[in-house]
Amino acid sequence: MIQKPRGTQDLFLNNSKEWNTVEEKFRKVLNVFNYGEIITPMFESKELFVRGVGDSSDIVSKEMYEFTDRKGREFVLRPEGTAPTVRALIENKLYIPENLPYKAFYIGPIFRYERPQAGRYRQFNQLGVEVFGVDSIGNDVELITLSQSFLNELNINKDIIVEINYLISGDERKAYEIELKKYLASFNDLCADCQTRINKNVLRILDCKIDGAKFNYAPKMFEFASEENKKRLNITYNQLKDLAINAQINFNLVRGLDYYTGLVFEFKNTKIDQAIIAGGSYNNLVEQLGGPSLPASGFAIGIERIMLTLSEQNISVLTDQELDLFIIPLSEAAQVLTNKLLLDARTNNLKVDTNWNIKNLKAGFKAAKRVNAKNIIVIGDNSISNNDYSIKCQETGESVSLKFEEIVKYLKGEKKNEKNT
Ligand code: HAM
Repeated sequence: MIQKPRGTQDLFLNNSKEWNTVEEKFRKVLNVFNYGEIITPMFESKELFVRGVGDSSDIVSKEMYEFTDRKGREFVLRPEGTAPTVRALIENKLYIPENLPYKAFYIGPIFRYERPQAGRYRQFNQLGVEVFGVDSIGNDVELITLSQSFLNELNINKDIIVEINYLISGDERKAYEIELKKYLASFNDLCADCQTRINKNVLRILDCKIDGAKFNYAPKMFEFASEENKKRLNITYNQLKDLAINAQINFNLVRGLDYYTGLVFEFKNTKIDQAIIAGGSYNNLVEQLGGPSLPASGFAIGIERIMLTLSEQNISVLTDQELDLFIIPLSEAAQVLTNKLLLDARTNNLKVDTNWNIKNLKAGFKAAKRVNAKNIIVIGDNSISNNDYSIKCQETGESVSLKFEEIVKYLKGEKKNEKNT
């Protein structure tokens, strides 16, 4: 048997419904926050991520699905959605003043060659948000409230904390990296990843899953921040608290992608110890990829981690999907009328169905029971010749007798139940 690739999923029945509901709720929240959708290709030039995300990141150095096309061009399946959005912004000149601030969201699959485990896949899906042309505490806080609104929409309201930190850049960062390296020189038992990170991206050592806990006494990045940035982090924190968001400052929070420049944040599900939403500001990326100097910020939500959280917290987002009517056709002539009725009802936005394999009444009722229908109608030769059809309401057990042309009106509530039988 051919099996799906490791780290991927098949979603069907209630799981695919749940997936779609999560997406719908995201769209609903993004609509009220006044964002527009951006749709970009699923594969991009490898160079975009090498330059955009950084070749010291795990994502670029060891997790990309790479391929060359027939002309030898190097492409990758996108390992994240921010660099592609920035590429599209520059290529389509979306940064013109009348578009700014440009607020975009995207939905789609992301590919990373990671070690699969619960909540970690090789193909997963992100709901992402990016804002271009604004750099302010107001915007930082609004992005976090947007994430929170999405979680509220899904009724996810326990075991979630938002960790925030402020990544320093420029000279402040250089001074900090020198001190951090001095501190790390006293360790001779660092894991292989940390040993490479010391030279490539020393900040990432702080959130190493293996060694991270050893660095409690490491110099704190925050102490190297300018007074203005220290103030900014504190104000952001206080504003989040005022909005009743469960925020915590984590001075060791650094992100796995190299482009962040200021506020970074992660919504963590503390029960599964995983980030479900993560992002921050990245004020240099647009210019770095060949566009104008333009501040930017955003975040991405992992749909699979949201679904894991829903199931772990026993939250069902599925609404009642009852059929308005299930039709049991008992003859060839009945099948013809069934298609007429199905089409008429469906054109009127009624949810109706039948099962073409039904051979007799018993099988018909068995099939109806399985599909959870509000009403059942049996179409047989007698009802056809008398133009008299009996519709049975499953909830009350009552039947009503109708002419064929009255059925849809009755289902829509436009015809009263006059002749109860
Ligand atoms: P990220 O932290 O790499 O950030 O991913 C964002 C979210 O995607 C994570 O918090 C998690 O929910 C989900 N995720 C990541 N890896 C996996 C995986 N292997 N399996 C399942 N879910 C996963 C970014 O991708 C940035 N582009 C976010 C951003 C947007 N920053 C600014 N704008």
